[in-house]
Amino acid sequence: MTGTSELVAEEMLDALEEDGHEVEVEPMDDLDASVFEGGGIFLICTSTYGQGDVPDNAKAFYEALGAQKPDLAGVRYGVFGLGDRTYAETFNFGGKRFDELLAGLGAERIGERYTHDASSGTLPEEVALEWAEAWVAKVRERLAQTA
Ligand SMILES: Cc1cc2nc3c(=O)[nH]c(=O)nc-3n(C[C@H](O)[C@H](O)[C@H](O)COP(=O)(O)O)c2cc1C
Repeated sequence: MTGTSELVAEEMLDALEEDGHEVEVEPMDDLDASVFEGGGIFLICTSTYGQGDVPDNAKAFYEALGAQKPDLAGVRYGVFGLGDRTYAETFNFGGKRFDELLAGLGAERIGERYTHDASSGTLPEEVALEWAEAWVAKVRERLAQTA
């Protein structure tokens, strides 16, 4: 809503590209289920707004997935959620909602869902770099199991 998640995604892209990975950042505004058809591993980077809602630019995508219920078996993803613990009842629900939706459609999460807290004093775009590298290591482990 204020560009933080986008900044986080761009920072992770730079760090992972430097490590030799092929990465694309896709703003959620115009996405639909076909994004999952091209292969690859997905990292959902989302904040929380309103009453624990996904941000406005992710709503159409989130709702379309819930309505169309595509079979996402074989899709692997991680979640980097942004939120603020001041919203105790709905802390990080944006990431939680995407996680539950994708898991319900048969996709497999790799690693734990990250829950950044804006009131913690840490900047998500800084925490994200180390987190993304650790997450990629878990992706590698998972892929090695299935190779
Ligand atoms: C009006 C408003 C409502 C929010 N609601 C929630 C919420 O329900 N739960 C939560 O964890 N964070 C909530 N947040 C915190 C944001 O998710 C957090 O500041 C995030 O870093 C913003 O990232 P963005 O600019 O990518 O949207 C809210 C922030 C605002 C300004």
